Amino acid sequence: METRFRDIGVEAIRAELLVVPVQEKKLEDAPLRALDRRLRGKLSERIQKSKFTGAEGSALLYPASGLLPSSHLLLLGMGSADDIESDVWRKAGARARREAAGVGAADIALFFAPGGSPEQAAAAIVEGMLLASYQFNKYRSNSKVSEAVKNLTFFRPGLMRTPAMEKSIAMVQRIMPGVYLARDLINEPPSVTTARFLGEQARRHCRGLGLSVEVWGKQKITAMKLNGLLAVNRGSQEEPRFIKIHYRPSGKPRKKVALIGKGITFDSGGLSLKPSKSMETMKLDMSGGAAVIGAMSLLPHLGLDIEVTGYIPTTDNLPGANAQKPGDVIRYLNGKTIEVLNTDAEGRLILADALALAAQQKPDTMINLATLTGACMVALGSEVGGLFSNNQPLADQLLRCARDTGEKLWQLPLVKEYRELIKSSVADMKNIGGSHGGAITAALILQEFVGDIPWAHLDIAGPAFAESDTALCNKGGTGFGVRTVLKFLSTL
Ligand code: BES
Ligand code: MN
Ligand code: ZN
Repeated sequence: METRFRDIGVEAIRAELLVVPVQEKKLEDAPLRALDRRLRGKLSERIQKSKFTGAEGSALLYPASGLLPSSHLLLLGMGSADDIESDVWRKAGARARREAAGVGAADIALFFAPGGSPEQAAAAIVEGMLLASYQFNKYRSNSKVSEAVKNLTFFRPGLMRTPAMEKSIAMVQRIMPGVYLARDLINEPPSVTTARFLGEQARRHCRGLGLSVEVWGKQKITAMKLNGLLAVNRGSQEEPRFIKIHYRPSGKPRKKVALIGKGITFDSGGLSLKPSKSMETMKLDMSGGAAVIGAMSLLPHLGLDIEVTGYIPTTDNLPGANAQKPGDVIRYLNGKTIEVLNTDAEGRLILADALALAAQQKPDTMINLATLTGACMVALGSEVGGLFSNNQPLADQLLRCARDTGEKLWQLPLVKEYRELIKSSVADMKNIGGSHGGAITAALILQEFVGDIPWAHLDIAGPAFAESDTALCNKGGTGFGVRTVLKFLSTL
């Protein structure tokens, strides 16, 4: 998608779709008046009839019927806030993209008069368009691929391109392939995305200056004592993999960060089998790993002076004849033991290996992303991820980054009193807590494996996968986390 800037008035611009953002109750503003004059008063008539007020999220599509150089006019309601948030711009971009697809327009012009930061607004509009453009059509025979937007022109009398604006738009465009990659990996059927496949994909996509990938097979996993991964893998015909992606900047790194992603390629629950309805979307259970691969794949293009290591333990969780059993005990490489009482609480079992291994390298920060608990979805719904951290400044920084990217995170507490709930009668802990607070007890188990390293855990069970089409993502994997993690790395 090409973006351009033009110093031109709203009645003179030529495009297939002319988009005019409208503040709530500001229907008397200059651009609308100019358009209405050209459209001989028909626009204000239409606005009145349709009761379009400019409320956030509302839209009015109007054919220009030869009265304007543009073919269609789209008014986008931006709400009443004076300072329009990035996410509102993002959704406006996405809506423009969808309406453009509806009328077959590949050439969009947008009247651009943001109140606050024009760099942020322009980047958010482009980002929304690109996020909403993603489609996974590989397995459709009559793929009704909607045409891509080819040109986006920002215009207004007096509008100039500024280097800052170009830079922020370029950044958004640079990051999008990482989000698309994560979405692709999640959307692939679970018999395609096996642990081996995920390793191959990491190798294929994590290339470039400073990046290297190691994919460990069963033998190396055994030698490294990654016993949680081996235990979960026991019920499967597929071999496990442990993927390690390393980014070394060209200069001396200022900081060392570890990113850990849950890579369960399909979660049947194991012997503690899930009901079939709950299994329908369980190919999503490698979304944390996909986000880490997606984010790592972009590092050579960002030029950060931070050393980053990605760790992705990956296997499916199946109830084969040799499957681990409730009552089994796993001994971890840091000496701690977990009694497995529910084989469906498998994410924490494989993450414990990866966290303990990552902690040995003494990174400055560890962040893990995991579709860890249904309980987190119960608490926060499908759009918001749970954030847990043993370090408040780190949590605050991640929350700030998430606010910027529009990937919603909400902090939940590591309630130390609840450690009682994961006490085991035979081992250091058991892998399930009581009947309530399941997102917290899961996080408390992870915490046992990070020592005193500043660590954050993102439980992305809700936002990793859109159960139906949303503003910024069609049904399927969302790539949640890629943008926030990269934002975080770039603010270190
Ligand atoms: N992968 C699931 C969590 C999940 C559920 C993610 C729904 C996305 C949507 C995880 O492995 C799991 O099964 N968790 C159990 C834990 C329980 C057995 C303690 C859960 O949440 O029910
Ligand atoms: Mn599970
Ligand atoms: Zn799972």
